[in-house]
Amino acid sequence: MNIEARLSLFPISTEVVSDRLFIGGCDIERLAEEYGTPLYVYDRAELDRAASLYRHTLTEAWPGDWSVTYAGKAFLNPVIARWASGQGFRVDCTGAGEIGIAVQAGLSPAQILVHGVNKTEEDLHSALRYAGTIVVDNLSELRKMARLAAGKRLPDVWLRFQPGLAVQTHHAATQTGHEGSKFGMSETQIIEAAFFCREHGLPLRGIHFHQGSQFRDPAPLQPAIEKALDLAQEIGLGGEWHFSPGGGWGVAYHEDELPHPDMQEYIRAVTAWTRQACERRGMELPYLHLEPGRSLVARAGVAIYQVGTVKQIGGRTWLLVDGGMADNPRKALYGARYSCLPVTRLTTKATQTVSIAGPYCESGDILIEEIALPPLGEGERIAIPVSGAYHISMASHYNGARRPAVLMLENGQAHSILARETIDDLIRQMQV
Ligand code: LLP
Repeated sequence: MNIEARLSLFPISTEVVSDRLFIGGCDIERLAEEYGTPLYVYDRAELDRAASLYRHTLTEAWPGDWSVTYAGKAFLNPVIARWASGQGFRVDCTGAGEIGIAVQAGLSPAQILVHGVNKTEEDLHSALRYAGTIVVDNLSELRKMARLAAGKRLPDVWLRFQPGLAVQTHHAATQTGHEGSKFGMSETQIIEAAFFCREHGLPLRGIHFHQGSQFRDPAPLQPAIEKALDLAQEIGLGGEWHFSPGGGWGVAYHEDELPHPDMQEYIRAVTAWTRQACERRGMELPYLHLEPGRSLVARAGVAIYQVGTVKQIGGRTWLLVDGGMADNPRKALYGARYSCLPVTRLTTKATQTVSIAGPYCESGDILIEEIALPPLGEGERIAIPVSGAYHISMASHYNGARRPAVLMLENGQAHSILARETIDDLIRQMQV
C-alpha cells in the first residue's frame, strides 16, 4: 500500500499523527466515536484552496469580467451556499429545491443562477422570484416562462446550447453536450429562441453549454466554444454579454489516476480559446462564467465507515462496512473506483487484499472491488477520500438508510453542517 500516494488524494490538511488520520487538525477516529458512522467530513482549508485557485487563475488569465458559479448539485446546504458566496461565487441551483436552500442561506438574486432540463411551473416561479439568471433549456420552457413572467421582473435569460460534441468522461451517463443528449437546444432552436426573446422583450444576455462531467482533457471544449460563439454572434449577443462553457473539470479518485487534473490547465485553455475566438470574430469579450462543482468540493470531502463484519466467501475477503450505495451510489452507477486508508494503525503493513461493500441488499452495493490494506477487524474504521461531490446529494433511503452526518473541519474544530437523519426523519412524510 503506497500510503503517500493515497494520502495525496485526501484534503491538503491531512496528516498522520501517532499512526492516526487527522484532517483539518481533527482526529478522525475521535470524531467517528463522537458522531458515529457513516460520517462525512469536509476540510475547510481544501475548499478554500480550490476556490482560490479558480479565483487567482481566472484573474490572471481573463482580462474581462468573470464569475465562478458553484454547481450546487455536487453538494448543497446553507453552509456550503454561504461558503460559496463568501468566495465571491454564485450558486447554480437546479430547480425550486436548490433555490430554496440558497435563499435560506441568504443569497441574493444576483448570486443565484437556475438550471434544469424540465423546469416545472414551481421551478420557474421560484426562479422568477429569486434568481438573477435563468438558463433556458428549451423552447417550451421559454414560452412557459414568458407566460408566467408577464409583468414581473425577469432574470437575465441565457440559452443552453447543445454543441453536439462530447468530452471524454468516466461514464457515458455523465456526458451532456453530445448529439442525442436530452440537454439544451440545437443551433436552429437557439435562433428561434433568440427571436422569441426579442419578440417578447425577454432580456436575452447569454449563451451556455455544458459538455459533461469528470473530464481531464479540455481539448473538446475548443470546437464547442467556436460553435457557441458563432451562434452568439448570429443571435446578436454583444455589448455586455455572458458566456458560460459550463463546468465538468475532473478530479483523481484513485492513486492510479494521479496526478490530480490541473485546474489551471483547464482554466487557461478555456480563457485562451474564448479570447481567440472572440478576437477572430471581432466580438467584445463576454462576461465569462465557469460552473464547477466537483473540482471545488470533491477532494475536500472524506467518508468514514466502520467495519461491521469481516467475511471470506467466493475466494474474497469482504470488509462489510456501515455505508455504501445509499450514501455513495457512484460505484453502482458509473463503476467509479475509490481508494481508502485505515483511520488508525495507518502505517501497519498492508498484507491482504480485500473487497469493501456496504450493508444494502444488492450485489452492486460495493464501494471498492479490490484494495490492499492492513488486516482490519470489526469495529475498525476506514476513510474514503474524494467523497465530497455527488455522494450526499445523491444519497437515498434504500433499505431505510438514514443519511449520514456531515461535519466541517477547520483548525482542529468540527462543526456539524448536516445532522444524521433519524428514523423519525425517515417516517415524517409517511402516512402512518
Ligand atoms: N453545470 C451544469 C449545467 C451541470 O449539469 C453540471 C453537472 C455542472 C455544471 C457541474 O459539473 P462538475 O463540475 O461537478 O463536473 N453524478 C455524476 C455527475 C453529474 C453531473 C451533472 N451535471 C457523478 O457523480 O459523476
